[in-house]
Amino acid sequence: MGVLDGKVALITGGGSGIGLATSQLFASEGAQVAMFDRNADLVNETAREIGSSAFAISGDVTSEDDVARMVASCVERFGRLDIAFNNAGIAGAAPIHDHELSHFQHVIDVCLTGVFLCLKHQSKQLIAQGQGGSLINTASINATQATKGLSAYCSAKAGVAMLTKVSALELGEHGIRVNAIGPGHTRTPMTERARDVEGFDEAMIGATPLGRLGEPEDLARMALFLGSDASPWVSGQLFYVDGGITVNELPPGFNLLEAQPRQPRGD
Ligand code: NAI
Repeated sequence: MGVLDGKVALITGGGSGIGLATSQLFASEGAQVAMFDRNADLVNETAREIGSSAFAISGDVTSEDDVARMVASCVERFGRLDIAFNNAGIAGAAPIHDHELSHFQHVIDVCLTGVFLCLKHQSKQLIAQGQGGSLINTASINATQATKGLSAYCSAKAGVAMLTKVSALELGEHGIRVNAIGPGHTRTPMTERARDVEGFDEAMIGATPLGRLGEPEDLARMALFLGSDASPWVSGQLFYVDGGITVNELPPGFNLLEAQPRQPRGD
């Protein structure tokens, strides 16, 4: 018995990293999973590895035609939609004064407009089915935490957090829950280049109360909770899954416990 027995889930960015781990976990918990990704070879291969409960759809979240086809293909194959995980994303750093408009717009298109298009077409399907559902968006700790070089990415992820709230407000009357997950630094292909920078991993781990980087499965478990009937009264929220790094307001690596205490004033 899986907690998602009889459910149909749609996962964008399903070919890699967090989306792939979530597709695998959902399938192992009994869901039928439609995996959507712009990398056709990758998503075909990974869906084949999961087996008959998974189905690959290739396309781009920035194209409304592709997103509409994604939802239609899922329904054609599995008969319905219950859960969607809008997770496809890209990063890419540039300083504001030297940021190409085309790159800024592309990050916004994929990370923010792509989530809007998914919510639009998925909610239309869920409203037509009339049985509610769960929509989950991938934001980031960068929804509220600024990082140098990531003006487009941080802006897009802050937008996802607000889009999540507005959608939850609008769709609640249809029994549709909408939540967001904010990953901390997680070991996936997206973060490989950052992890090549000397000292980066150590700084992140040093600032993280739980003392390690995230694994894709850490995020998949939160998606499972939000997608399943274990969270029936949870909507409109952004959940950080980050080892606790967002409660650390000190510079990375700074340890207050090791700081020399000052002389108490006045005595
Ligand atoms: P990843 O690079 O391993 O996987 C992303 C997948 O999305 C890839 O398979 C890629 O082909 C697909 N994709 C990208 N653009 C697409 C598009 N336009 N249309 C369809 N598919 C597209 O990355 P990862 O780390 O698994 O990221 C997943 C989500 O988590 C992203 O939204 C990312 O911003 C977010 N995130 C990741 C963090 C991390 O540390 N890995 C931290 C915070 C947020």
